[in-house]
Amino acid sequence: MTDTTAAAPLLELRGVTAAADEKTILHGIDLAVTAGETHVLMGPNGAGKSTMGHVIMGDPTYTVQSGSISFDGRDITELTPDKRSRAGLFLSFQAPVEIPGVPLSSFLRAEIAGRPGLEMKGKEFRRRVKELAGQLDMDTAYLNRELGVGFSGGEKKKVEMLQLLLLQPKLAILDETDSGLDVDALGVVSRGIDAYKKATDGTLVIITHNTRILEHLHVDRVHVMVAGRIVKEGGADLIPWIDEHGFESFEQVAGHGAAADPQAVAASQGE
Ligand SMILES: Nc1ncnc2c1ncn2[C@@H]1O[C@H](COP(=O)(O)OP(=O)(O)OP(=O)(O)O)[C@@H](O)[C@H]1O
Ligand SMILES: [Mg+2]
Repeated sequence: MTDTTAAAPLLELRGVTAAADEKTILHGIDLAVTAGETHVLMGPNGAGKSTMGHVIMGDPTYTVQSGSISFDGRDITELTPDKRSRAGLFLSFQAPVEIPGVPLSSFLRAEIAGRPGLEMKGKEFRRRVKELAGQLDMDTAYLNRELGVGFSGGEKKKVEMLQLLLLQPKLAILDETDSGLDVDALGVVSRGIDAYKKATDGTLVIITHNTRILEHLHVDRVHVMVAGRIVKEGGADLIPWIDEHGFESFEQVAGHGAAADPQAVAASQGE
């Protein structure tokens, strides 16, 4: 970053190395996301994408061994997940939680409690949640069901999107990877993202293998992760390139530890 007049990024990772059970998964990740932008994180299975999401959110499963994370002008490297959430970070889990005995509406109510700007009376809360459920084509009967229990994959996605729209975080990390989204769930996620963008001009980091989600989105930046390292960054044009060529050439580069450009490597191999 040589341009000192540019606005500071909303989220910035500097040299983040992180481990679980003494096994280092992320190796010196640098990432800068400016407010209002949409970033996409791609990479093969096991690259460390979900881990990065969890590390940004402060999941205690992972230890940050070196580097720092800043968000909205402050260092959050040592903050608890709860404080990060209150600071405006949101992570949609690959496998959302189930809490038997707790109706979805009570969970949502507890989630917004005490958040500046989100205080609302019971009646207003119910009206707001109904309105959002309507936007997502979600049956309001869900609201009385136990959180996550017996919800289908698509229904869980709707709940995540409802949380996103209710909480209106400054930055949302959407980890879609293993959820096996069908056409309907894809529609839910796309609509949720649209509504979030429209309502808040929010900032997104989308982790996905399914680039159809991205078709109607303006993507500002794409990051490719292989073996716990960001090996390539570029604009939205990287997405169709990856759809066509896959990650193989990036993996070769990562494997050789070379600084070669995988797109150039692929081109030189007569692709
Ligand atoms: N809690 C953990 N304990 C031990 N190893 C872990 C843990 N979490 C992740 N890993 C390992 O770290 C690596 C990266 O996993 P991660 O889930 O971040 O990959 P991913 O890029 O999200 O993959 P996918 O595209 O399949 O979702 C994998 O080898 C995984 O087994
Ligand atoms: Mg993952």
